[in-house]
Amino acid sequence: AEPLNVALAGLGTVGSGVVRLIETNAELIARRARRPIRITAVSARDRTKDRGVDLSGYAWEDDPLAMAERADVDVVVELVGGSDGPALALGRKTIANGKALVTANKAMIAHHGIELATAAEQNGVALKFEAAVAGGIPVIKGLSEGAAANAIDRVYGILNGTCNYILSTMEDTGRDFADVLADAQRMGYAEADPSFDIEGIDAAHKLSILAAIAFGSRLRFDAVDTMGISRVLAADIAQADSLGYVIRLIGMAGIDRSDGTPRLFQRVRPHLVPFDHPLAHVDGATNAVVAEGNFMGRLLFQGQGAGDGPTASAVVADIMDIARGEKGAAFSMPAGELEAMEAAPTGHR
Ligand code: NDP
Ligand code: HSE
Repeated sequence: AEPLNVALAGLGTVGSGVVRLIETNAELIARRARRPIRITAVSARDRTKDRGVDLSGYAWEDDPLAMAERADVDVVVELVGGSDGPALALGRKTIANGKALVTANKAMIAHHGIELATAAEQNGVALKFEAAVAGGIPVIKGLSEGAAANAIDRVYGILNGTCNYILSTMEDTGRDFADVLADAQRMGYAEADPSFDIEGIDAAHKLSILAAIAFGSRLRFDAVDTMGISRVLAADIAQADSLGYVIRLIGMAGIDRSDGTPRLFQRVRPHLVPFDHPLAHVDGATNAVVAEGNFMGRLLFQGQGAGDGPTASAVVADIMDIARGEKGAAFSMPAGELEAMEAAPTGHR
């Protein structure tokens, strides 16, 4: 079968992981995707950096936007990061040029997901972003496909690996916040600007994407009520422990029907979680997502939420879906449904 030609823009933690995974599992991937996945071109800022992978077989582009122009590219994988800038320019150009887009960029999807999904729909190409929420956990697929027949009333969980790593390590070792954050950065969990992690913004990006998929509502990142962990002290963690709790950064979204008009609420907050709750045992860079549906009951997804291997796993699964012919985006909805949900007010409970 004809190979699917892929270009990688961004060769940092995730991009290098994608190269490693596609090379290591090439045979298995080709079998399951029903055609080989072939990297044709790669791009990053620094051509000379050692990335621990052999890039000599791939064309190099200094400008990531060049990926969208190449004739030997069917799918552009955007792993540069940032809600706007080169990532968004590349995303727009890729779709406008009739190529599929795969991204791990939750900031870009939270801010521009509807625009990109609409363009993908109009151009008959795929927009896939499984890795944007909860790293290696297939939660976008789980909610948009596995739970598709359910009315979902609530979705919540631990959505940021860096914060969870910091909180659980401080809890276990009593180490200092800044010291543990530096560890998370070294391990490739943190965003390029780690204030996105510790101020809860990254979790808010992910929550807004999950909510749009779970409830079929318009993506509303601006309506997430957000508080991070930067003001959580070692003393707070010790105090919580003495009372039988751990502290976890939780994102929660749901439909509040208490005053007659259904309202979407979206909140990110440090929470006290009792020792006997399943989320209290989610440690390190692990994420967990709980969704409650009217027929399926409670669904719990858990796994590595950050890092090269788990994130690359989600990115490559998206590429494989495209190899099998998938088009459109998880946000695509029948005409009229989006407008109806858009009219529903957001609010805080
Ligand atoms: P890194 O910072 O490790 O890598 C970013 C890559 O993009 C680098 O290769 C860098 O080049 C390149 N780059 C940055 N700016 C530019 C630019 N202006 N022009 C061209 N290339 C550029 O990030 P990650 O791999 O950690 O993250 C990539 C994306 O994946 C982000 O959207 C992130 O939010 C998301 N993500 C990350 C996860 C993780 O665990 N790390 C998990 C899930 C999603 P160079 O290497 O030369 O500097
Ligand atoms: N910085 C993010 C986190 C990466 O720590 O969860 C995964 O999205």
